[in-house]
Amino acid sequence: MPAATPAVSFDPALGLAVLRTPNSVYAVRIGADGSPRHLHWGPVLDAAALTTPRSPADSSFEDEAAADELAPQSGARFGPAGLQVRFADGTVGAQWHFLGPRIDGGELRLRLADRRYPLAAELCYRVRPDSDVIERWTELTHTGDDAPVTVHRLDSASWTLPPLADYRISHLVGGWNSEFQLHRDRLPVAETTLTSRRGLTGHHAGPWLALDDGTAEEEHGQVWSTALAWSGSWRITVHRDPVGRTTWTGGFGHEGLSWRLAPGETLRTPVFAGLYSAAGFGGASRAWHAHVRTRVLPEPERDRPVLYNSWEATGFAVDEAGQRRLAKLAAGLGVELFVLDDGWFGARTSDRAGLGDWTPRAQAFPDGLRPLVDEVHRLGMDFGLWVEPEMVNSDSDLYRAHPDWVLHAPTRDATELRNQLVLDLSLPEVETWVHRTLDTLVTGNGVDWLKWDANRPFTEAARPGAPDPDRVWIDHVRAVHRIMDRLRADHPGLRIEACAGGGARVDLGVLARTDQAWTSDNTDPVDRISIQHGFSQLLPAQAMAAWVTDSPNVTTGRTTPLRFRFHVAMAGALGLGGDLTHWTAEELAEAAELVARYKEIRPLVQRGVQHRLTAGGGVTAVHYATPDGTEHAVLAWRPTTRFGHPAAPLRLPALDGRARYRDLDTGEEYDGALLRHRGIDLRLPPGDHASRLLRLRRTDRLTNSTTGS
Ligand code: GLA
Repeated sequence: MPAATPAVSFDPALGLAVLRTPNSVYAVRIGADGSPRHLHWGPVLDAAALTTPRSPADSSFEDEAAADELAPQSGARFGPAGLQVRFADGTVGAQWHFLGPRIDGGELRLRLADRRYPLAAELCYRVRPDSDVIERWTELTHTGDDAPVTVHRLDSASWTLPPLADYRISHLVGGWNSEFQLHRDRLPVAETTLTSRRGLTGHHAGPWLALDDGTAEEEHGQVWSTALAWSGSWRITVHRDPVGRTTWTGGFGHEGLSWRLAPGETLRTPVFAGLYSAAGFGGASRAWHAHVRTRVLPEPERDRPVLYNSWEATGFAVDEAGQRRLAKLAAGLGVELFVLDDGWFGARTSDRAGLGDWTPRAQAFPDGLRPLVDEVHRLGMDFGLWVEPEMVNSDSDLYRAHPDWVLHAPTRDATELRNQLVLDLSLPEVETWVHRTLDTLVTGNGVDWLKWDANRPFTEAARPGAPDPDRVWIDHVRAVHRIMDRLRADHPGLRIEACAGGGARVDLGVLARTDQAWTSDNTDPVDRISIQHGFSQLLPAQAMAAWVTDSPNVTTGRTTPLRFRFHVAMAGALGLGGDLTHWTAEELAEAAELVARYKEIRPLVQRGVQHRLTAGGGVTAVHYATPDGTEHAVLAWRPTTRFGHPAAPLRLPALDGRARYRDLDTGEEYDGALLRHRGIDLRLPPGDHASRLLRLRRTDRLTNSTTGS
């Protein structure tokens, strides 16, 4: 057997660094000026063949023509800079001297030092043998002992496409109640900036994008996509120039901020991961899902529980008796985790007061939370608790005791949103207080799960008089991540759900320390179909919390059948959020049956391979399969009928055309080729809000020659 090609290599003669993944190659060449330049990102090929001989006559032309791996603001560079620094004498930018590579397994570091100033950078790359995802980040170090360096921009990475006939961008936009809406547009010949200036990842935009030449489809075509692992403000600028080159650069922070890099200090950016796929948008999503499941999410092999959450049922009107009633009903449905939402603490009977005072409200919980927690545990469920630890109502004991703990400027009016202010977690005493408060709540009450909410963006976030006033934009987020990490380390059974007024903080950074994310406060199943479609572009169903709530829906007023609501929510980590005390005996029985059904397909939904499908007649569907292709679950929805036309058969391209499959509910047998190419008749009932769960099992066994086993 020939030795496997190393995942990372560096050819000193060519100045060529190459990263190999199973289906892609990424190559960088060190320019004659010492700056790493992009050479290739795409299909597997011999990158050395792309290098032109370097001679004094043509090297400058070659280097100028190639995009920077991280563009410093210096020389004849006129596009968006990924690195902007200013030294004490007023000089800006960096001129690099290449110090050499450092290779450690699948990790490559390109080490750079400024030719005149005490500044060093490492452009870092990581690949893994089982994935096409390339993780990149930057580390910037002040190597001197004199004045600080001002950093105006430090991106994690810049990415470059090969020349394509055209360029199209896919990205996610939205708002509260309308998160994760997928937009796919022609990329203008311009600089297109996606950004959050909110201190949170954002409802309105997400730090994921995909680019293609305009011809990629769900299962075909080349797609280049990237995702930033950061839970605060961020910026990604895509630059399509008039000569046909497209690059994008991104990282933490928005425009107008600057950070002080002290002598000896290193600033490390979050990871900005990239993926090349030749298997269309669906193939790209599946590769991301596998990466997120194996490299990002904690405990991916542990199925996310079916939860009940009281928020839509009770609002702020929570008390022990009411929660006990709901818990009993939830347990009867097969729920595994009961989550007490907002309203249990301090003077919190509305969103006007009490936030920050994390002691149970005596009128509602006279003996504290313990009796309810014990009852929930006795019913066989875990206990979850809603917290919003980064926030405070101005009408709270915490704010009265520590008015200086919030983001504020003494000479500016404080902006209250949802009647609340943001605690400044960049202050060590505030971080310590938040950690201690949560640790005490978890330890003292036997809490198994925290729903960690953050219901407003930052304002007045630059602290006048502080030595590094904008640093809060980074340090607050790091403190949140650190507290989550510490809580998980100290309480190995504890699980955390990320939430921010719905899905305003969903990113690869927060998902590295939370089990799932609350996708949206909008639980209307029709709206959820597009919200879940957008979510699935980057993130797996396992991380996507989805509840069945009451009908008519509280947000949209739409009336839908219970089965349809379940079938939509079963496509993620299922939860229930309705007022069960008002559900009829028939509804409760149907819900119990559907929860049981979900548990049967849960390993496929949460750990399987996902395919997004459509069929004529307004049907969309999601197909989940075990990696070995034996078990299949398809959830298909038709929100509305048009002209009374029947739905077209649903084709299942992920099935094996040589195999046979049995419908586990009807016992019918199907030929794989027929299901792949002609499709299955879903037999949807007439009318709106029709849905179907289809479960198939492969019934044949492939011969050794076809499986190779
Ligand atoms: C946010 C969350 C909701 C709920 C409320 C409570 O809006 O997204 O699920 O927890 O806060 O105030």
